[in-house]
Amino acid sequence: MTTHAVVVGSGIAGLTVALHAVEHGCRVTLVTKDVLDHANTRFAQGGIAGVMFADDRVEDHIHDTLVAGAGLSDREAVRVLADEGPARIRELIDIGVAFDRGEDGGFVKGLEAAHSYPRILHSGGDATGTAIERALVARLRASRVDVIEHAFLVDLVVEGGRVRGVDLLVGDREATADSAAVAGRRGIVAADAVVLATGGAGELYAHSTNPVVATGDGIAAALRAGADVRDLEFFQFHPTVLAAGASFLVSEAVRGEGATLIDETGRRFAFDAHPDGELAPRDVVARAIAHQMELQDGRPVRLDATLLHGDDPEERAAFLARRFPTIDRAVRERGLDWAREPIPVTPAAHYLMGGVATDLFGRASLPGLYAVGEVACTGVHGANRLASNSLLEGAVFGARAGDVIASDAASADWPVAAGASAERASGGEPAGAAPAGDDPADAPPFSRAALQELLWHDAGLVRDDAGLGHAASVLSVWRTQRREPHTELEYENENLLVVADHLVAAARARRGSVGAHYRRDDPVTSAPIRQEAVAC
Ligand code: SIN
Repeated sequence: MTTHAVVVGSGIAGLTVALHAVEHGCRVTLVTKDVLDHANTRFAQGGIAGVMFADDRVEDHIHDTLVAGAGLSDREAVRVLADEGPARIRELIDIGVAFDRGEDGGFVKGLEAAHSYPRILHSGGDATGTAIERALVARLRASRVDVIEHAFLVDLVVEGGRVRGVDLLVGDREATADSAAVAGRRGIVAADAVVLATGGAGELYAHSTNPVVATGDGIAAALRAGADVRDLEFFQFHPTVLAAGASFLVSEAVRGEGATLIDETGRRFAFDAHPDGELAPRDVVARAIAHQMELQDGRPVRLDATLLHGDDPEERAAFLARRFPTIDRAVRERGLDWAREPIPVTPAAHYLMGGVATDLFGRASLPGLYAVGEVACTGVHGANRLASNSLLEGAVFGARAGDVIASDAASADWPVAAGASAERASGGEPAGAAPAGDDPADAPPFSRAALQELLWHDAGLVRDDAGLGHAASVLSVWRTQRREPHTELEYENENLLVVADHLVAAARARRGSVGAHYRRDDPVTSAPIRQEAVAC
C-alpha cells in the first residue's frame, strides 16, 4: 500500500523531504501555514557551507563544526552533514540554483566566522535563501506533491502511541479527499507518517532575525504529543543586526569580506574576546558585542565596511551593492551610507539549536513522527551552530528522512530515534517549575510582546539564576491561566509559551556556560556534557 506522508513546513528541509519521499513512492501532502515560499529559508543571506573545492577537506568542515559547537555536537551527525553535503549542494545546482561564479567560471568562495576555509557558496550575492527556496518551490510545483497553503498545525493526531495525522486550522484552500477541513475550519488529514519541518522560534524574543512565522509550532505540537525534545537551552544570537529601524540581518559574510566591529571610540574590540576577533564563533562575537554595549550604556556598536575594496568610496559602494544587494538596499532605506560610514549593529535571536530529538534519519521518539531542519535536534550543531550550516542541515537531513519513510512504513515495527521511546513519552506536562517565593501577582498579563520581553531580558544572550528563576515564575503563572485559543495567532502564542517554558527549564537545569548558553553568574565553561533528551 502507498505510504501517505504529510510534511508540515515549506523551507529547504520540508521541500527536500517532500521531493525525496515522493521519489521513493510515497504519496506526499505538504501543508504550510502561509504561502509556499514564505519560510525562514528565504531570508538566509550568507550561503550554504560544503566541501566543494579540491583544496578543502571534509575533515576540516567536520573540525570547524565541532569547534563552533563547543564540544557538544553529535560527531556522527556532523560527519553525515559534511560527507553528504556536497551531493545535496550538487542536487540544488541540478534543479537550477545558480550559485555565484567568478570570471574564471568557478564558484566564488565565501568566508564566514569560524570556518578555516572559504567554503560558503552564495547566490545573488546575499540572496542565497531566496534562490534555493525559489528553485525548490518550482520543482515541488512540478512534482506529484499535493500542497495545502494557509493550513496551520494545531496538533498531531496520536492513536495508540503512534502519530496518525495532523489536526489543521485551515484558512484559504480547497478540501482534499483526506481532509474534512474547509476554509477557516478545523480538519484532520490522516497520514502514515508526519514530518515536522516547521522551522524555529525566533518569535520568542523581542529582537529577532526571523520572520513572524517562526513560532515554534512543531516543537510545541511534538511536546504535546509526548515526543522527546533536547537542547532547548541553546538559542543562537546573531551578532550583527541593523540597529536602525526594523531589525535586519547583516550577514556574517560582511565580516568575512573584512568588515570590522568598532566601539564608540573607533577601537576594534572583538580581539579582547577571542584571537580570531570578528571571525570568532558566533556566540563569542555576539557576547563581545553585548558586553561592549553594556559599557556604552546600551548604545549599539558599529560595523565598519569603509575599509573594504580600496580607497575610493564610489568603487566601494558599487562593490557593496553587487556583493550584498539585499543588505545594501536595507542599509540605504534607513538613510545610511555604509561605503562611507560605519553602521550601528546589535545582536538578535537567530537560530534554535535544540528541538525535537531525532536520529540521523529524522526519526523522532514517536512511531510515525519525523522532524527535519531547525525544528529538529540531531545534535549536529551542539551548543552553537557554525555559520551557513543550517541550509545544509535542511538539505542533508531532509533528504535522509525522505529516503526512509516508505521503507520505515513497510517495516513491522516503526523505527524510532535510538535512546528515546514512545513508552517514556507521557504527554503534555510542562517542565518548568516556578521557584518558591515569587509573587504570581507580579506577572504581567500574557501577550506575545510580554513573552518576548521576558525572554529577551531573562533567558537571552546572557543569563543568570535570578533572571531564569523570574522567567520560570512568570511563565508558570501564564501557564496555569485558562485560555482557549481559536485563531491562528492565539494558537501561535500558546505554542510560544510551551517552547519558552521548556527552554527556560532547560536553561535552569544546565550549570556553567557552554556555547550559546552563557550564565554571567557561572561563566566557567562547563564540561561538554549533552543532557538527556527529555520526554515531557
Ligand atoms: C548570515 O548570513 O550571517 C547568517 C547565515 C547563518 O545563519 O548561517
